[in-house]
Amino acid sequence: MNRNAIYRFLFCLLVVPLYALTQPVNLMPMPQQLTWGEGTFRLTSEFTIAVEGEAAPRLYHAATRALRRLSGRTGLFFAQDFITQESKSDTSQLQIICERPATVALGEDESYSLTVDAKSILLACKSDLGGLRGLETMLQLLQSDEAGYFFPEVIIEDAPRFPWRGLLIDVCRHWLPLEVIKRNLDGMAAVKMNVFHWHLTEDQGFRIESKVFPRLHELGSDGFYFTQAQVREIIDYAGDRGIRVIPEFDMPGHATSWFVGHPELASAPGPYTIERRWGVKDPVMDPTKEYTYEFLDKFLGEMAQLFPDEYMHIGGDENNGVHWNANAGIQKYMKEHNIPDNHALQAYFNNRILNILTKYGKKMVGWDEILHDEMPTDIVIQSWRGPEFLVRSARKGYMGILSNGYYIDLIQPAEFHYLNDPVPSDSALTDVEKSRILGGEATSWAELVTPETVDSRIWPRTACIAERLWSPVEVRDVEDMYRRLDAISFQLEELGLTHIKNYDMMLRRLTGNRDIGALKVFVDVLEPVKKYQRHRQGITYTQYSPMTRVVDAARPESMTARQFNQAVARFLMDGNAKDAAIIMRWFKIWQDNHAELLSIIKASPILWEMESLSQDLADLAGTGLEATALLQAGKKAEQSWLENAKIVIAGAGKPRGQTELMVVAGVEQLIMALAEK
Ligand code: ACM
Repeated sequence: MNRNAIYRFLFCLLVVPLYALTQPVNLMPMPQQLTWGEGTFRLTSEFTIAVEGEAAPRLYHAATRALRRLSGRTGLFFAQDFITQESKSDTSQLQIICERPATVALGEDESYSLTVDAKSILLACKSDLGGLRGLETMLQLLQSDEAGYFFPEVIIEDAPRFPWRGLLIDVCRHWLPLEVIKRNLDGMAAVKMNVFHWHLTEDQGFRIESKVFPRLHELGSDGFYFTQAQVREIIDYAGDRGIRVIPEFDMPGHATSWFVGHPELASAPGPYTIERRWGVKDPVMDPTKEYTYEFLDKFLGEMAQLFPDEYMHIGGDENNGVHWNANAGIQKYMKEHNIPDNHALQAYFNNRILNILTKYGKKMVGWDEILHDEMPTDIVIQSWRGPEFLVRSARKGYMGILSNGYYIDLIQPAEFHYLNDPVPSDSALTDVEKSRILGGEATSWAELVTPETVDSRIWPRTACIAERLWSPVEVRDVEDMYRRLDAISFQLEELGLTHIKNYDMMLRRLTGNRDIGALKVFVDVLEPVKKYQRHRQGITYTQYSPMTRVVDAARPESMTARQFNQAVARFLMDGNAKDAAIIMRWFKIWQDNHAELLSIIKASPILWEMESLSQDLADLAGTGLEATALLQAGKKAEQSWLENAKIVIAGAGKPRGQTELMVVAGVEQLIMALAEK
C-alpha cells in the first residue's frame, strides 16, 4: 500500500462513520423521531415500488409521482412506469404497507414510519395519508456522492403535532388561475400541509361560478373566475395529495363584488362596481332582510354540494358598520329586536348563516370577529388580529386556528414566522384548552401579487410555517431552519413552482434583455418594504397596476444580507480576520457595482427609480470598507468621519421604489463599534 492509499484507508475508517452520524438533515418539516444508521441504500434503475394492504388510489398516484421525481433528479431510467395494485411486491425495494384508505378530513391519521436500510426501504402507515407524508420525507432524504445517488440508513417515526396545517390563497384581489393553484398544492403536499383555504369572494372579485345566481360571477369577476368543473378538478387534485379544500365566502363585509349583480343584498342602494382598490370598504350585506337569507340559503346550498369538506369559511372580518349605521331600516330593526350594537347584529347574521350551514351538513369557520357570546362553541375561530384571540376562544370553548404571525404577505423574515407558535411552550392554557387549538394557516393575500410573483411570496417561507405546525414544539433552531429551508426551496422547484426561476426572468425584463449581473448584485440585497408600508409611500396600487418593478422582483428575505449582517456581528464579537475578509469582499463588490449598473439603469426607464439607491449602496460600501479597516487596525475614527458616516447610513436607510437596502444594519453596527471607541 502506498502512502496515499494508507491515508485514504485511514480517512475512511475515521471519517466515514463520523459522516454517517452527522448526515446533513435536509428534512422539513423535521420528523418526530429520527435515528440515523451508518450505511446507505443505493438508488439504481432497478428501483421499484410496491403498495401492500388497503389504500385509496391516491397512494398509488403519489408513489408514481415520487418515482418520476426521483427519475427526474437522478436521470435514472427506472423500468417501472406506473405503480398499480398489480405491481409485484416480493422484489420491490420500496415496500409501502398501508392499513386502510383515508378520508381527507380533519383529524385523519397521517402518521407513518420509514425505515431505510442497505437493501430495502419500508414505509408503513395506518391511512394512505401517512404514506403520502412518508413519501415526501423519502424524497427529501435523497443525496449523492462519488458512488451515485443514495438514501442514508435511517429509522423515522413521524406524526403531525397539529391536525390543521393550512395555506390561504386569495384569488380575488388578483386573479390566480388553475395552474397557480395546482403547483402550490404540490408545494403544500411536499411540506405536509393539509388544508387549502380558498379565499373565493371579495370586494375585488367573485371568483367562482354559481349556476343558481350566475350574475354573481358574470358581473363580479371581469370574466376571471373558476368554473365548477375547474373547482372539482382542484378538489380532486388536492384530495389526491391529502389536502382538504375549504372555500371562504366572505360575508357580510368584503362583499362588494356580490352586489354588482345583486345590489338587493346590500345595506345601501348602490349601484355597485367591482372594487379596484384595497382596504376596508363600506358595502355590506343587509342582515335584517329575509331575502338575504333566502339568497344565501340557495347559494350556500349550491356550494355545499360542490365542496366535500365538512367545514366552510364565512369570513366575517372587517365589517366597519358604516352602511348599517346609515340605514334607517336596519337601525329600526336593531331597536325592535334589542340588538345593542353592530357586533351583536353580525352575531345574529352569523347564527342565521350557521343554521343554513348546519342544514347542509357543514361546520362554520370564520375570522376572529365572529367570536361572540351568542355563538355556539362548535365553530372554528381563525385568529388574525392577534394571538390573544386564539387564547380567548380556546378558553371560551371554541376550536381555533392561528394566522396572526403567519401573514406571509407582510414580507417578514422566515425566522419571525418560524418562532410564532400556536401553543408556545409557556402557554398558560390548560391541556383541554390547548387541545382546542387545531393548528394554523399561512395567508397569501393577493393585493400585491400576480401569477408571476405569487410563488415567491409563498415559498420558501411557508415551508417553515409548515414545520412549525407539524414538528415537535422543541424544534426551533433558527440557523438550522435556514440551512434546511434553502435545500427545500430548491426541491420545490421540481414541482413547477416559480419562486426561484422567475427572479432572473423578471430582472431580465427590467434590463430590457441586457446582462442582469449588476442588477442582481443590487437586488440581492434589497427587500420590499414591510407590513403595509408599500401602500403608504405615494403610490396608489389598484387591481391593474404593474407588478413588474424591482420591488416585485426582490425576494421577501435577502439571504445575502442575512449572511453579511451575521458576518459583521461575528467580526465585531471576536475580530476574526476571516469574517473581515468576507465583509470586505462584499463591500468591494457593492462599491464597484454602481458604475456598471448605472449604464443599465440609464437605458431602462423602469429602473430609474432605483438609481439613487444603487449609488447609496456604493457609498455605504465605501464607508463600510473604511470602518472595517479602522477596526482591524485598532484605530479610532475622526469625529468628522463619524458624522459623515452617519449621514451615509441615514441616506442608505431611506426606502426607494418601495424597497429597502438590507445591509444598512450591518454597516451601522460597524460605525457604532467605531463610535464607541
Ligand atoms: C383579514 O386579514 N382581514 C382576515
